[in-house]
Amino acid sequence: MRFLLLTLALSALFAYQQVGAEPDAVYLSSDSDENNLFGLPPVPIPANNPQTPAKIALGDKLFHDKRFSVDGTVSCANCHNEKLAFTDGLPVSVGHHGLTGTRNAPTVLNVAYNPSQFWDGREPDLEGQAKQPLINPVEHGLTDHKQVLEIVRTDPDYLATFQSVFEVSGKRLSIDHVAQAIASFERTLVAGNSPFDRYYFKDQSNALTEAQIRGFGLFVGQGRCISCHTIEQDHSLFTDGRFHNIGIGINRIQQDIPALTQAFLEAKNKAREVDVMVLTDKKSSELGRFAVTDDLSQIGAFKTPTLRNVELTGPYMHDGSLKTLKEVMVHYNNGGVTNAGEPVNDFLSGGIRPLNLTDPQLDDLVDFMKALTSSKFAVPTPTQAAN
Ligand code: HEC
Ligand code: HEC
Repeated sequence: MRFLLLTLALSALFAYQQVGAEPDAVYLSSDSDENNLFGLPPVPIPANNPQTPAKIALGDKLFHDKRFSVDGTVSCANCHNEKLAFTDGLPVSVGHHGLTGTRNAPTVLNVAYNPSQFWDGREPDLEGQAKQPLINPVEHGLTDHKQVLEIVRTDPDYLATFQSVFEVSGKRLSIDHVAQAIASFERTLVAGNSPFDRYYFKDQSNALTEAQIRGFGLFVGQGRCISCHTIEQDHSLFTDGRFHNIGIGINRIQQDIPALTQAFLEAKNKAREVDVMVLTDKKSSELGRFAVTDDLSQIGAFKTPTLRNVELTGPYMHDGSLKTLKEVMVHYNNGGVTNAGEPVNDFLSGGIRPLNLTDPQLDDLVDFMKALTSSKFAVPTPTQAAN
């Protein structure tokens, strides 16, 4: 008992050191620097999974390993491709054998800050999230995690690395170690330091164009975007981490809701996996947060996504149904319907109402979105390149 208490006390001490660490004390990937974090809060690191350079490198390798899939073609990076700001650029993702899912792949940049993972928040953390795609029938397509473990327990490289990072091998090497390493790698994928950060947190008034400054005014004013895509006093994640129905995809199920919700709950009670149901059935996908909480008022509610780097992460929304940022602005301006005149759904968030913005104002909002691209990912415009 005394030993247990001592262990607890020691691990609490460690936890404190990790959680309380200043951002520059946290190990980040070698190519990131302090500047890249500008405008972001310190990266939260869970006490039971501290960052180490070796663990991060291991996670990087696991993230890119295609052997963890039924046909040897799928790694996490297929759908979270660094060249596309860690998305796949598709409306909905494509897994093994060309199978399609139901949802748009969010970027994994800045997922370290998400209070929950997935569009419906069904996983509380990155460690839990990382285990799902491997066994999802339309993603990596493995029947169970044993297939991953067979590889990492026998491949000499993995064997040595897991031994040195976690001091485990053989049967003690579990899928949780794999997930921990992947999560540690993901916690290095942070990107702040956009023109907006320099404008707002550093008072560099020339960091934004005139149009972007007007767009920012609309973002906090008439557009009321800031009520969900939040900005704090000394940092900004552009998300409240909460769930709202803003009128995307819901019209596809409006008629079916009573039957659909009942069938969904029955299946869930029979222990069918929510992860599988929402990614393989288009209609179940549209239930949104309801699929997790069983709360009818959350039908069609999805997690507010960050807007950082949004210029690079299209197409947009949980179903990838809006191709351009202009289409997104038109949807909001219409009061939560993509085509003006369509009926408004019963579950629409109270925060979504027609905005009465003019077309040039919608363009200003689009320009403001482009001020949120991290300098790390900025593509130089032809004039900049010529200079
Ligand atoms: C076939 C494409 C595909 C593959 C492979 C894939 N993902 Fe994803 N990822 C998605 C899609 C689609 C979503 C959104 C699903 C949802 O919300 O229901 C997602 C969501 C996520 C999220 C949540 C992000 C957020 O903002 O909520 C994380 C983190 C993530 N994936 C990491 C991974 C990791 C780690 C792997 C490898 C183990 C992986 N993904 C493999 C397509 C993919
Ligand atoms: C009531 C909360 C709320 C308000 C207000 C709001 N948003 Fe959103 N925003 C969301 C949610 C939730 C989503 C995802 C919805 C979905 O996929 O079903 C989203 C999605 C987006 C996306 C797509 C991001 C992506 O990665 O797919 C953009 C861009 C965006 N919002 C910009 C804005 C702008 C600009 C405004 C103001 C005109 C605004 N939002 C107002 C909650 C809100």
